[in-house]
Amino acid sequence: MLFNQQSPVIIFLCTLIIISTTFQIVTSSDQPTTIYELLQINGLPIGLLPEGVTDFEYDESGRFEVHLDQACNAKFEDELHYDQNVSGNMSYGQIAGLSGISAQDLFLWFPVKEIRVDVPSSGLIYFDVGVVSKQFSLSSFEIPRECLASEDQIVVENPSGKKGIRTNDREEHSMAFL
Ligand SMILES: *[C@@H]1O[C@H](CO)[C@@H](O)[C@H](O)[C@H]1NC(C)=O
Ligand SMILES: *[C@@H]1O[C@H](CO)[C@@H](O)[C@H](O)[C@H]1NC(C)=O
Repeated sequence: MLFNQQSPVIIFLCTLIIISTTFQIVTSSDQPTTIYELLQINGLPIGLLPEGVTDFEYDESGRFEVHLDQACNAKFEDELHYDQNVSGNMSYGQIAGLSGISAQDLFLWFPVKEIRVDVPSSGLIYFDVGVVSKQFSLSSFEIPRECLASEDQIVVENPSGKKGIRTNDREEHSMAFL
């Protein structure tokens, strides 16, 4: 008897719980709605990608792809070139298997293969350009930059041999210019 009287109530409560749980799952899930949020969730600075990116895809494995309107260049300490399509695997503190970003050094362009930051942060960000890793100040990547249309760059693949080796050493740069 008692059970029968309560059962509509129980059913009602159960329904409420199910509804509210479902609702919670929907509202509390942290699905990034922008590529910048995806960067933030992964502890990476949002300025790694140019401003105004809306066309992107990603999956749970961390694989992402960004489609820009056009290839473009953005000025940082060094200039970065973005291909129209940029892709890679994002995980906490790093992007591996990067494709579509190159960095200028001594008038040559080198593809950036990997980007990582220290966890916890040291204030530096590292760009693996094949032979060496270049380090920049994290703060220069805080804000997405304007990216100006550019022709596709001629990119130097894996520089080898003494002439091609680039280092991150500023003194060596000035020596090279002398
Ligand atoms: C970029 O990706 C889009 C969609 O996958 C493709 O249609 C386009 O040709 C790609 N652009 C370049 C320059 O590879
Ligand atoms: C990137 O992720 C894809 C899919 O998970 C995987 O097949 C590929 O090996 C990864 N590449 C790198 C460089 O981590």
